Amino acid sequence: MNSHQLSGLTAEGLRTFVAEQLTRSRARTVQLTDSVDTDDLVRQHSRLMSPLVWDYAHIGNQEELWLVRDVGGREPVRQDIDELYDAFKHARADRPALPLLGPDEARAYVSEVRDKVFDVLDHVRFDGRELVDNAFAFGMIVQHEQQHDETMLATHQLREGVPVLDAPPPPPGRRLPSAEVLVPGGEFLMGTSTEPWALDNERPAHPVRVAPYFIDTVPVTNGDYLAFVDAGGYDDERWWSPNGWAHRQKASLVAPRFWQQTPEGWFRTRFAHREALPLDEPVMHVCFYEAEAYAAWAGKRLPTEAEWEMAARFDLATGRTRRFPWGDENPGPQHANLGQRHLRPAPVGAYPAGASPLGVEQLVGDVWEWTSSDFTPYPDFRAWPYDEYSLVFFGPDYKVLRGGSFGADEIVARSTFRNWDYPIRRQIFAGFRCARDPRPEELG
Ligand SMILES: [Fe+2]
Repeated sequence: MNSHQLSGLTAEGLRTFVAEQLTRSRARTVQLTDSVDTDDLVRQHSRLMSPLVWDYAHIGNQEELWLVRDVGGREPVRQDIDELYDAFKHARADRPALPLLGPDEARAYVSEVRDKVFDVLDHVRFDGRELVDNAFAFGMIVQHEQQHDETMLATHQLREGVPVLDAPPPPPGRRLPSAEVLVPGGEFLMGTSTEPWALDNERPAHPVRVAPYFIDTVPVTNGDYLAFVDAGGYDDERWWSPNGWAHRQKASLVAPRFWQQTPEGWFRTRFAHREALPLDEPVMHVCFYEAEAYAAWAGKRLPTEAEWEMAARFDLATGRTRRFPWGDENPGPQHANLGQRHLRPAPVGAYPAGASPLGVEQLVGDVWEWTSSDFTPYPDFRAWPYDEYSLVFFGPDYKVLRGGSFGADEIVARSTFRNWDYPIRRQIFAGFRCARDPRPEELG
């Protein structure tokens, strides 16, 4: 089943699809919260993150607000806690001090909400209200839970102690035919007006003209990035933007987060496992400023958001914009490293079946990729279904990330999906790839 095809489903088919997605996201939430003890659930592992038990009850509260009360028109389950779990009322750093539900209470609450949601789902008619067309509100809530699951995975990465998460390794990498490809540019259709569960900031589809550019075939690896570290890149102001250099000084950055230099070489910590730095994996836990500095050192730059999306979706042969680099088919395990299946990025070259028509790989999955673009609305943007989803974040404070990480679910990692964060953030599963302008002789 393909979320793109939702509009062709009967109401029964839609109910089945929604139920499967709700169940799948909840299984992941339970795994991420059952894998640690009560102390780990209520503790704040970093001031950047909420306690896991906050995310857990917040998932249930959003589900109650939208599906039980709004779509279902039912009585509130716990109106008294709405304020506690409103992400706009309390900064993450302040959340541990709130009178939050304890782990047992939170579990009872979210399962009571879920029972009611299944009842609402049994009776809802998917028409008459824009909120329920193609089960949009259900899709929004499924994606919300999956996005919090990725956030909770980032909390796991910040957590100290014995390892509690494990997963099989990703497929092996391979040598790539070339390091970069030329995208001839031109006009393409960016964004979407047809993905039923696309969020407001991905809409509408609109033509964008892009000049020719080169883009790296794969994300920058730990090995590539180590060369920048070894070359003294962190001590050379030339490679950094003014804001980037100021932040590098203030935060005393010397290497990606979770890297450690030892007499035996470089190591990294990944979900409490300490391991030798794998040189052929995409680098992650770098902020936008570090990505920007590396690119300058390499004689390149970060791609714009439009360049990233054109490389990921445009099929030169047909002039058509596809859903994904490999075509219109939903992501499978052969295409991309998504869904916490592997708990690490895959080595470069691991997903030949996920290549775009021009041969760009690993655009979807592995690591979120920083772009040079600020988070801004597309032409004719309409805030929907609420201003706090995207509208309040537009502007120069946030940079756009694209493509999803190994921690993101396929229901979220559309090639139109836009993530955004502060340029100083490093706890997210973010890396980057480089782009550059062609030299005149390269254009023939
Ligand atoms: Fe949320």
